[in-house]
Amino acid sequence: MAFFSNLFAKKETSVVGIDIGSSSLKVVQLRKERGQAVLETYGELSLGPYGGGEIGQATNLSPEQITETLKDLLREAKVTTKSCGVSIPYSRSLLTLVSLPYRADPKEQKTVIELEARKYIPVPISEVQLDWFVVPEGNPAQSMGNNSTEPLAQGPKIKVLLVAVHNDELTQLQNIVAGAGLSASFYEIEIFSTIRAAVLEPVKPVMVLDIGAATTKVYVVEHGVVALSHAVSVGSQDITRAISVSGNVSLTQAEALKKEEGISGARALGSPELVFSRIFSEARRVLVQYETMHHKSIASIVCTGGGATTKELGEYAKGVFAIDVQIADPFAKTEAPAFMRPVLEEIGPEFAVAVGIALRKLEEV
Ligand SMILES: Nc1ncnc2c1ncn2[C@@H]1O[C@H](COP(=O)(O)OP(=O)(O)OP(=O)(O)O)[C@@H](O)[C@H]1O
Ligand SMILES: [Mg+2]
Repeated sequence: MAFFSNLFAKKETSVVGIDIGSSSLKVVQLRKERGQAVLETYGELSLGPYGGGEIGQATNLSPEQITETLKDLLREAKVTTKSCGVSIPYSRSLLTLVSLPYRADPKEQKTVIELEARKYIPVPISEVQLDWFVVPEGNPAQSMGNNSTEPLAQGPKIKVLLVAVHNDELTQLQNIVAGAGLSASFYEIEIFSTIRAAVLEPVKPVMVLDIGAATTKVYVVEHGVVALSHAVSVGSQDITRAISVSGNVSLTQAEALKKEEGISGARALGSPELVFSRIFSEARRVLVQYETMHHKSIASIVCTGGGATTKELGEYAKGVFAIDVQIADPFAKTEAPAFMRPVLEEIGPEFAVAVGIALRKLEEV
């Protein structure tokens, strides 16, 4: 019988994406069916209460506490698979766009990139995991010298995005994953997961704002590659704090008010616009920097992260930026019952990273 059960054993087709954020953990479980990504379950658990803090505020929990929270979340969300991918926080990674000598031979090119990368990574190369992407930008032989101050004799250049993560960071994530009884086949910097889940047209330059709890990640994506990235140290927790101070209410009450009232409702309480305008003015600087450097205009802005679920944010942002602004809808890339759509659309931005991870993991199935 063992023979038959092996023969007809159903291949495991469910996968789970894990996002370890500063304020909460998120999981999204997908299954592949007829080539489609079917949503099986999802869930979120705030880290604050596990460390004596508040829901919606960033935390600094120990790996052991995160492991315990993750175990709870997997149980509460009824995750049935161990097969996962995991996000790496942007703050724990290094992304640098550099101009390097071009080689026609791919092997030689690889050697050049690995050698040159040492100059840009601030720690010994043996202490990091290094990855890179060549930025498609026309014919490298022709792009030589245009904006470059390098002597022409040095030959043509290519643009390369270097991505480095410290080994200690990976070990810590691996311990959390193993402690929660999961098996991960990859770890990915969260902005790549977000792009997969939230950017619909990766060819044109698009700016992404991931409005998290403590920080907002701002980056420009073009041809699916990150051309520019920047962290603003203002996030949605600052709105809660502003409401708490000016409304003289607890952080818990302020958090609830923020979620209920949205931008205009909370205006009387603590001016969320002040916080958003700090985020948006830094984002605008990134936008202008990109447009000036590349002589191209950014086609649209996509907002993700928990802060992007703030009621009326889309309208407010459209008034600030003179270009198209969208609120990410990552679950649109998954199949789910029609009655769930309104909820999935509402909470979607917060799950962009977890959806993006799960979508990549599904490619392995
Ligand atoms: N409906 C809502 N309205 C307004 N803000 C919300 C809403 N839901 C969640 N938030 C806020 O979003 C923030 C959390 O966002 P998110 O889950 O993206 O952060 P994170 O991933 O933990 O943080 P980071 O990405 O910075 O590590 C919290 O500050 C929370 O208060
Ligand atoms: Mg996040």
